[in-house]
Amino acid sequence: MPSACVLTKYGPPSVLEWAEVAMPEPSKGEIRIKAMVSGVGPTDLKIRRGSLAAVYPLPDRAVLGFETAGVVDAVGDGVTGVAVGDEVAAQLMTLGGYGEFVVATTWAVKPKRVSWEDAGALPASVEAAVRVLRALKVSSGETLLLLGAGGSVGMIAAQLALRQGVHVIAAVGEHDEELVRELGATPVRYGSELLANVRKVADHVDATFDASGKGGVEEAITLTGDRSRVITLADERARDLGVAFSSYTPDGAPDAIAIGMELLANGELQLRSQRSLPMSEAASAHRLLEEEGAREKLLLTTAAAG
Ligand SMILES: NC(=O)c1ccc[n+]([C@@H]2O[C@H](COP(=O)([O-])OP(=O)(O)OC[C@H]3O[C@@H](n4cnc5c(N)ncnc54)[C@H](OP(=O)(O)O)[C@@H]3O)[C@@H](O)[C@H]2O)c1
Repeated sequence: MPSACVLTKYGPPSVLEWAEVAMPEPSKGEIRIKAMVSGVGPTDLKIRRGSLAAVYPLPDRAVLGFETAGVVDAVGDGVTGVAVGDEVAAQLMTLGGYGEFVVATTWAVKPKRVSWEDAGALPASVEAAVRVLRALKVSSGETLLLLGAGGSVGMIAAQLALRQGVHVIAAVGEHDEELVRELGATPVRYGSELLANVRKVADHVDATFDASGKGGVEEAITLTGDRSRVITLADERARDLGVAFSSYTPDGAPDAIAIGMELLANGELQLRSQRSLPMSEAASAHRLLEEEGAREKLLLTTAAAG
């Protein structure tokens, strides 16, 4: 039997337990992947704590994780364009990434030049970045305020927007100023001085992408002057503030992983710095993020990754 990191109840990182699970079977339109590297995202931590129980009511012994990269191991009915043995990266609508075998509906082939780590770190972040940039309809010559530009989603969104000829004002902490400047964005410090900091570098802002959820949406509304061009991925006050909260849907940006893969293969996309742990130590990965303030993207590797 394969193993997975199982969530037995909501609570601290220690509720994650490495245990044997039934082999997941691909249904129509799905593939099964022998996982090499799976990403850990902030949403996983919120689910584990029970903060998203209304949105993600968990079955007994749930397996967290929205993204993985590995080798196709079985193919469900109706699947075309991919075969057993292909290397892929996938986004998982129904979780399951912290397992040795994972079932997926949305994937892209991994070029050999892309590392397993980058492939495992990419899917959920690039999908969110592409989805929100499209919804904001940012175009060449416009100015985008990007809250959380030093994070996993934010770094990708910054680079995609810059490639489109958009001027990106990147709200970051001091530690990420140089990083986003090197990407081609204009750094400003997030926090209580955000409004003044943005006004020092720009006369106006056309749209705001909140890829942080840690504040700044009120200032963004003032700066943008149009709530319909402010979108958050994570601020639970979105409805009260009158801005859109963007969530994953299968038809949101199904081509995003392939877009990100091609850019990675060409050396045209930089991801957040990474730190890998064995998948059986998912609880430690959660602890590093939640209690020790780790600022890298945490990745879980299986024995299959060697
Ligand atoms: N709705 C969706 O579909 C969806 C999809 C993906 C992610 N998300 C959510 O989106 C958020 C970002 O995800 P992620 O994977 O990119 O997380 P991440 O890698 O942890 O990045 C979060 C970034 O926000 C920055 N930040 C902290 N406080 C801030 C503030 N006051 N103003 C602006 N930025 C601030 C952090 O900087 P420091 O390092 O300085 O703290 C960090 O760079 C998470 O809440 C996640 O759950 C939602």
